[in-house]
Amino acid sequence: MKISIINGPNLNLLGQREPGIYGNQTFEQYFADLQVKFPQIEFDYFQSNIEGELIDQLHRVGFSSDGIILNAAAYTHTSVGLGDAIKAIDTSVIEVHISNTFAREDFRHTSFITPNAKGLILGFGLDSYRLAVESFL
Ligand code: DQA
Repeated sequence: MKISIINGPNLNLLGQREPGIYGNQTFEQYFADLQVKFPQIEFDYFQSNIEGELIDQLHRVGFSSDGIILNAAAYTHTSVGLGDAIKAIDTSVIEVHISNTFAREDFRHTSFITPNAKGLILGFGLDSYRLAVESFL
């Protein structure tokens, strides 16, 4: 089984960015643990701060991966283009967030991803990604 993880803007700074909200671990450390936990899964990981690059990656993996885990970060709340990209591809997308966006500012309560995603997992810290993997299994 092939699972693609796609992270959006500022998630390259996990571990140092607002640790009270996003924790102390880098995504690279977490991703290494995930690969050990699920040796039967072939993972690929992509991060970009650029909206169009995230759309390109959805197009790249969206016809060959068995599942996509997408944390579009701030673009979640703004990007019609990312929502349309999910509609355009074959592979199911699980939307994840590290924080509980509904417990935060009002502008984080809107998502252009959720209506097009298979499901939504949020608020469990980085463990949100593991739960998304489990859902594909
Ligand atoms: C986030 C929540 C978003 O509102 C925010 O812009 C992020 C991270 C999360 O994982 O909790 O950058 O997607």
